[in-house]
Amino acid sequence: MILRLLILFVVLFAMLSVHCANLISEDTAQPNPTAGTLFFKKQVFPILKKRCFECHSHESGEINGGLALDSRSGWELGGDSGPAIVPGETKQSLIIETIRYGNVDLQMPPDGKLPESEIILLEKWVAMGAPDPRRTDPVISKKGIDIEAGRKHWAFQPVRVPKVPDVTETNWPLDEIDSFLLAKLELDQLHPADDTNRYTWLRRISLDLTGLPPTPQEIEAFIADSSDDAYARVADRLLDSRAYGERWARHWLDLTGYADQIGTANKVYAEYGWRYRDYLIDAFNSDKPFNQFIREQIAGDLLPGTVEERAAAITATGFLLLDNIEVGESDKMKLVVDVVDQQLIKVGTAFLGMTLGCARCHDHKFDPISQNEYYALAGIFMSTDSTHKVKYGVWSGIRSAQLPETTAQQTERDLKTQKHNKQLTTWIQTRAAIRKKADALEKESDERKKLEAQIPNLNRNIQHAEFFVPTAPRAYAVGDVEKPSDMRITIRGNPHALGEVVPRGFLKVISYSPPNKIPANQSGRLELANWIASPQNPLTARVTVNRIWQKLFGEGLVRSSDYFGLRGESPSHPDLLDFLAHRFVQNGWSQRKLIRSLVLSRAYRMGGTYNPQAVAKDPENRLLWRIAPQRLDAESLRDSLLLVAGTLQPSSGGPALALEYPENVSGLGPNNVNPPSFHLNKYHPGQKSQRTIYLPILRSGAQPAPAELRNLFDFTQPAEIAGQRPITTVPTQALFLMNSSEIKKRAAELAARTATLDGKPIEPSKRIEKLWLLTYSRPISKEEKAETLNFLNSQTDTQSAWTDLCHVLLASNEFLMRL
Ligand code: HEC
Ligand code: HEC
Repeated sequence: MILRLLILFVVLFAMLSVHCANLISEDTAQPNPTAGTLFFKKQVFPILKKRCFECHSHESGEINGGLALDSRSGWELGGDSGPAIVPGETKQSLIIETIRYGNVDLQMPPDGKLPESEIILLEKWVAMGAPDPRRTDPVISKKGIDIEAGRKHWAFQPVRVPKVPDVTETNWPLDEIDSFLLAKLELDQLHPADDTNRYTWLRRISLDLTGLPPTPQEIEAFIADSSDDAYARVADRLLDSRAYGERWARHWLDLTGYADQIGTANKVYAEYGWRYRDYLIDAFNSDKPFNQFIREQIAGDLLPGTVEERAAAITATGFLLLDNIEVGESDKMKLVVDVVDQQLIKVGTAFLGMTLGCARCHDHKFDPISQNEYYALAGIFMSTDSTHKVKYGVWSGIRSAQLPETTAQQTERDLKTQKHNKQLTTWIQTRAAIRKKADALEKESDERKKLEAQIPNLNRNIQHAEFFVPTAPRAYAVGDVEKPSDMRITIRGNPHALGEVVPRGFLKVISYSPPNKIPANQSGRLELANWIASPQNPLTARVTVNRIWQKLFGEGLVRSSDYFGLRGESPSHPDLLDFLAHRFVQNGWSQRKLIRSLVLSRAYRMGGTYNPQAVAKDPENRLLWRIAPQRLDAESLRDSLLLVAGTLQPSSGGPALALEYPENVSGLGPNNVNPPSFHLNKYHPGQKSQRTIYLPILRSGAQPAPAELRNLFDFTQPAEIAGQRPITTVPTQALFLMNSSEIKKRAAELAARTATLDGKPIEPSKRIEKLWLLTYSRPISKEEKAETLNFLNSQTDTQSAWTDLCHVLLASNEFLMRL
């Protein structure tokens, strides 16, 4: 007995130490490069990368034949035929056989033999013993996942309630947040930057909360308000505006894969997608508690409520469906498991900051998530109805559901249906009358041809009206399948190669309370949603407050805001992160309260002044000694241009695609094997001047012309699930701002709107003051004024001089930046 215990202890101890060794070793901890390593880096790696990665790497998403060549263990373990290299033995190494074209059935690369010189280099490398310095020490040992050891990672530990630290400069903090930040700065003998001026602060908070700069009236009101709560009043005004929801809904859309198009093939339109977008705007504007927001998006169809609440919650499940779903895929089993994978990846990234998709084909190589746990979660989505076969050829459609209606909505719809039917009948009668009239005329007469020429247009309208009959409101929404069940492992993601059945469940490493039991006749989505939305889940609140922090301060406290796993970054202020996560939950998961506290902090008031001493100590501003300037994103930039030019049109939402125009839809014929396609020929009236969030988002090709800015200013590609956009600076952006006819139009509008006041021309110096306030949200300086007047006086054509001036302002850095 004692002996057995001792053996067990030794075994466990050995496992633990192997694990810890793996945890500690880092990319940087490498020995001096030996000749072999150098040979690999200089001669071998470039060949593999150039010639093989396209089909054998994670980066490309292709691991053909099961062989990954982007890591050492990839070839060590090898693919379907076993190890790809036997170090030192060229004759026995499959890689060499394939590149020598020694086996007619397996020749690599398939589309042409490598140059002899490259083959010789690879042979030499294998003969040397295949030195390969690439990091191959996965955290998870082959023996399985060690949950207790995995929980040592900071992000998997329960959220703590840290003590607010003491600081020396006691009059600086306005909120506990500030004490946490200041304490760290003081430790490093750094000072927070001086407060910025009120103009800059107002422009900053307006752009951050609404995506729009303040108007001159708003600026004047704030500057004149010397009361103690002037700042808070601004924050509340902005948080109460519809514009707040319009801006923050867009942030969330970056995590959903949303577009107004389903998949990339055939321009299949997502007719009801806009309802999910409008749901999000409402959710932010009504400050829907984030735990409820989670439940609705994952399991809204299973929640009780009033008619309106149920309609909203059903619509919310569009989160799981509005993604790049390739409905033209002919292998339907593959479509189903790929959609499940997409859903898991999205839920994992958006709510948990985890890369769940990495455990689809093998245990997660870095995080304590087993392949079984992937299938435990995947079973929940396998039991969820997402796609189905439609009448067109090989095509599938994504699921939609009828929404419950209020009586008022029903009445409105009945009226619409009556009007629609009346119009349709008129067209059909007109067509018959024309036909009759024409038939009575001579065949080749002109008269008759004129009449007949009206028919194709009528045909098109009739076909369109017969296709788009008004129906009860629908939204893309999931439901449970008829017979929910557990799922079998798909070997390497192949739905035709099945492994063992895995009971549905959740991730062990972050489960601190007994698991929610999944009823046998349900998918388990509700239990999943509750598990994610639980205050005991260590990731959800942390990930969420960090995302919000990132939107306001430029970088998250955890900079890898979409990934909190072992390979992610550590928080710069772990205590502050936990403090915020805890307070967030205490405040009923209110995003609005969290945002309000952040923008009213002293930290958010700091200036952006460059401080060489601070830069020397903390070049990346990790300790937040200043507020770094940020470039506006595509939407803010376009929306601000419209606002400043005075042409921004308000919108209360509604369809993005103008499907009511027959010229926007093709392929409505009864015998089509393809679903109808959407073409953007016509917009809704006024739509082009609405905020960018209301413009259609397409999956294939460039974004439509009025939203051209999206193509140039780092818009998240719809298929990407990424909470933080890259910020690039490329010459095409400057060229666009200088040459685009849209910007020139805005400049002309801006010039025109500042030319007169109450019908009387404005005097030039007043006019430029107004221009500065409109575009830069601050008063013009003396020097700027003198220089501008100089420029205007030197021009002969005054009107174009003013337009040029406006153009310069709109294309300038200061307009492009939020300081
Ligand atoms: C255009 C895609 C493509 C490129 C490029 C490519 N491969 Fe392949 N490779 C494949 C496919 C597909 C298979 C699976 C073939 C099969 O199973 O019949 C495969 C299989 C293999 C296998 C067999 C794996 C096994 O265990 O069965 C080896 C070895 C291999 N490739 C090596 C290479 C090397 C080395 C390169 C680069 C010099 C390379 N391949 C480039 C597509 C590619
Ligand atoms: C479609 C299947 C598939 C998916 C999805 C997948 N991998 Fe792999 N991966 C493989 C295969 C096959 C191998 C080689 C055999 C093995 O190690 O199991 C491999 C090997 C690896 C290796 C090197 C092997 C080792 O033990 O060090 C790493 C690291 C890795 N994968 C990481 C990831 C990460 C990170 C993700 C998610 C982004 C991911 N994989 C997703 C199929 C996949």
